[in-house]
Amino acid sequence: MKITVVGAGNVGATCANVIAHKELANEVILVDIKEGIAEGKALDIWQSSGINSYDTRTIGVTNDYSRTAGSEVVVITSGLPRKPGMSRDDLISINAGIVKSVTENVIKYSPDAKIIVVSNPLDVMTYCAYLTAKVDSSRVFGMAGILDTARYRAFLAEALNTSPKEIQAVLMGGHGDTMVPLPRYTTVAGIPVTELIEKDKLDAIIQRTKIGGGELVNLMGTSAWYAPGAAAAQMVESIVRDQKRIFPVCAWLTGQYGLKDIYLGVPVVLGKNGIERIIELKLNEEEKTLLNESAVAVREVCSVLDKMNVVSA
Ligand code: NAI
Ligand code: 2OP
Repeated sequence: MKITVVGAGNVGATCANVIAHKELANEVILVDIKEGIAEGKALDIWQSSGINSYDTRTIGVTNDYSRTAGSEVVVITSGLPRKPGMSRDDLISINAGIVKSVTENVIKYSPDAKIIVVSNPLDVMTYCAYLTAKVDSSRVFGMAGILDTARYRAFLAEALNTSPKEIQAVLMGGHGDTMVPLPRYTTVAGIPVTELIEKDKLDAIIQRTKIGGGELVNLMGTSAWYAPGAAAAQMVESIVRDQKRIFPVCAWLTGQYGLKDIYLGVPVVLGKNGIERIIELKLNEEEKTLLNESAVAVREVCSVLDKMNVVSA
């Protein structure tokens, strides 16, 4: 089993490292456009195998997609990260060109791969990869919801002084300030979160989650990578081990939630075939409104991509 990670930067290298540590494949191929970077990081990760006791071989290549041939899953992290003052949408034109060319190469050598997009702006880059790959949407999807939910769970765990492992949560919508955390579907060891925390504290946590990516950009001068890399690896795990775990994933909607022809974060079952099912929750009016507002924001960015004619529908 082979898994490819494109982009050997902060997120890609972290993702490859987690995949190797979990022994999710025999080989992880790390690809980058910058000479030597993927080779160096893959070698560094491989040299930790004896210390951390795993067998997965990590191999780095510079733009040589023939080495990725036959990959089961491909994670696309190539692209620029956000700098302070830059919105995810500012990245669109540069990253769309990168995601398009990368996807063409990925599909050429691994026509049956499941493709997980990480590059930002996430929802529109996933759409870009889907238009380019021209395969069933069950095989092209984006990582954001696991990360955003993980942030929400971490903040809640801190406020409640509990383990984040006890916190189950669903979050929907686009990967941006319009994301929709759902307190009604948040539990702590099965207990509704609303029974354990005051409304104003929960509202503050939801707000912090929505701008969670920006908080880290402001602290570090670039965007996060440990949690994003681990989140993408968790999606890979659910696919290659056919775990059928339920995660919020950026998925192509065909009428679910009254929305169609759009990539948006929704709960899905992730297994060996990619997205095996989209779960439709019974949202109340307030939640529906928030989801629809998020869809409007995502459609606006997608229409920017459509107008650029980088990829054709
Ligand atoms: P980074 O700058 O550390 O790494 C990006 C890598 O992509 C660089 O090594 C660069 O050389 C490579 N690259 C650029 N063009 C390429 C091409 N055509 N082919 C192969 N490699 C190419 O950036 P970082 O922090 O790893 O972030 C990567 C992307 O992931 C960014 O767009 C960032 O905004 C996004 N991101 C998305 C998250 C999400 O929740 N979906 C979370 C965190 C980051
Ligand atoms: C994040 O949420 C910037 O999308 C990136 O960390």
